[in-house]
Amino acid sequence: MSDSTASTGVPADATSIVFSSYGEPEELRLVELPVPTPGPGQVLLQVRAAGVNPVDWKIRAGLLQEFLPVNLPHVPGLEAAGVVAAVGQDVSAWSVGDEVFGAAVGAYAEYALSDADRLAAKPADLTWEAAAGLHSSAETAHRTLNLLKVSAGETLLVHGAAGSVGGLVVQFAIALGARVVGTASEANHAYLRELGAVPVSYGEGVFDRIREAAPEGVNAALDAIGGTVAGSVDLLGGPERVISIVDPGEANSLGVRFTGGGDGEDRTPQALAQAIALHTAGTLNLPIRATFPLAEAAAAHELSAQGHGRGKIVLLP
Ligand SMILES: NC(=O)c1ccc[n+]([C@@H]2O[C@H](COP(=O)([O-])OP(=O)(O)OC[C@H]3O[C@@H](n4cnc5c(N)ncnc54)[C@H](OP(=O)(O)O)[C@@H]3O)[C@@H](O)[C@H]2O)c1
Repeated sequence: MSDSTASTGVPADATSIVFSSYGEPEELRLVELPVPTPGPGQVLLQVRAAGVNPVDWKIRAGLLQEFLPVNLPHVPGLEAAGVVAAVGQDVSAWSVGDEVFGAAVGAYAEYALSDADRLAAKPADLTWEAAAGLHSSAETAHRTLNLLKVSAGETLLVHGAAGSVGGLVVQFAIALGARVVGTASEANHAYLRELGAVPVSYGEGVFDRIREAAPEGVNAALDAIGGTVAGSVDLLGGPERVISIVDPGEANSLGVRFTGGGDGEDRTPQALAQAIALHTAGTLNLPIRATFPLAEAAAAHELSAQGHGRGKIVLLP
């Protein structure tokens, strides 16, 4: 560690998952790498659990080279929960030993860096697994609801409502006082009802079923699946209050906003605060779909790429 950091007991090398070329899940290898040193504004986390997101396997497969280029070899993983192991310059919010969760860089590892201002204190009664999987979904949910300007009394349509993002969009929207109609397979309809949404099956005729479920009309729509933008624009009568987090091509062609959480859009502090508020109220409901040891990251990617189920996939170093 350099003089610019405060740390205790951090090893020189630790285990990480890395891929050196784009390709199949088998590209993910378990290796020993030097533990990174936090720069100004950063902390080093001893990772207790790391969330697995669909974007991780899309990056590994080389599908996002245009939008999200990474330097190879690359350690995947964008969110984690862990213990602060070292603190960089200009960080006053955190000290070594603090238990935190939020955004991270290279989270599929025993140690990972994080921006100090994209973390929150982990409530003692929130498990490491649950905390690890919250950042991406909560931030995306908060960001999309903010961009869509959803307010109390409105009806929101969520395509992909049983997913990790969709589930938190439903919970945050209902907390705002909105009504939510959400698409999911039958297997997830009970889950959506539990969250307070009206479930609708996807597939042929989905927009007819949505019209039946929301006879008062739909005020705003989120595409968390892809391929639903045109139908949503038609349903709402225009593109202004439709947003996609999956399909920039279809969105752009129809004048619909695509959001990827780039510069100026990030809602981490508000999103983590809202997730903690729901947890404290006892209503946060984001199940754990599966946990895997770090060494089985390839299996975690295979499960994520299936695109069905509910809740978060989590890696345990
Ligand atoms: N742009 C951004 O900022 C951003 C941020 C986060 C995520 N994303 C993207 O958002 C998408 C969802 O992410 P996630 O983490 O929520 O994924 P996830 O947890 O794996 O959930 C996927 C969900 O999609 C549902 N689903 C599959 N086909 C469907 C269809 N035709 N209609 C409705 N629902 C369908 C599945 O439900 P069933 O089991 O019921 O089929 C499943 O619950 C991914 O493509 C991800 O890359 C984008």
